[in-house]
Amino acid sequence: MRYLRLGVNIDHVATIRNARGGRHPDPVRAAQAAAGAGADGITAHLREDRRHIADPDIVRLVEEIDLPLNLEMAATGEMLEIALRHGPHAACIVPEKREERTTEGGLNVIQGHNHLAPYVRALQEAGIRVSLFIEPEREALDAAVALGAPVVELHTGSFCEADIVGDAAARARELRRLADAADHAERIGLECHAGHGLTFDTVGDVSAIPTLVELNIGHFLVGEAIFGGLESAIKRMRSLMDKARAEASGARSA
Ligand code: PXP
Repeated sequence: MRYLRLGVNIDHVATIRNARGGRHPDPVRAAQAAAGAGADGITAHLREDRRHIADPDIVRLVEEIDLPLNLEMAATGEMLEIALRHGPHAACIVPEKREERTTEGGLNVIQGHNHLAPYVRALQEAGIRVSLFIEPEREALDAAVALGAPVVELHTGSFCEADIVGDAAARARELRRLADAADHAERIGLECHAGHGLTFDTVGDVSAIPTLVELNIGHFLVGEAIFGGLESAIKRMRSLMDKARAEASGARSA
């Protein structure tokens, strides 16, 4: 049974900090707490408008946190320069629109090939592991291979949205899309991650997909931290992931 890594996205600790300015709550302290609670990595998205994570946070996350940092970034010259300067363990290239509330869909890896290719190359040449945030579609996975990216992250937003609105048919359909895409990723040699909108109610079904190796989860964990603390929310998420994966593995070998 393959281990499923948990990357904790701390963006929204910074959102709360920025609501008032100043230093509290500190996303780097949240990253330390996440490390103590069993996270395998820290994820942070430096947006063009700096609405949550800010440049000094990236410096401190690289210097002060022992866990690998996964920097989510748009494919822009500014972000590439920042990534190359700080050398995070990984960079996940995401689409970014200034007016969106969150990252609304996957990258257009097919039409965007010529734009994305130099970013993938430059990051890889600097020893930064590149992943591409894409919709769970075979054509997008094939396009990621054509770009030379070793890793993809599947956007779980549609699956999680179906869960929120209680549309069981759409939920089942979206889960199948994720499982098919993760299966295809394995066949064509891509390491496959997933994330966006995951909660205690949705993480189990996604964790049961055996070829996924990492989930990145943020907003829900920070929200739950209000009620029971960040460490307890992360520990519960971790245990739901482990339980679902062990059960699915047992069911397959029975
Ligand atoms: N993965 C990627 C590529 C993302 O852009 C985000 C959101 O920043 C996440 C995972 C985490 O999503 P959420 O905060 O909804 O858990």
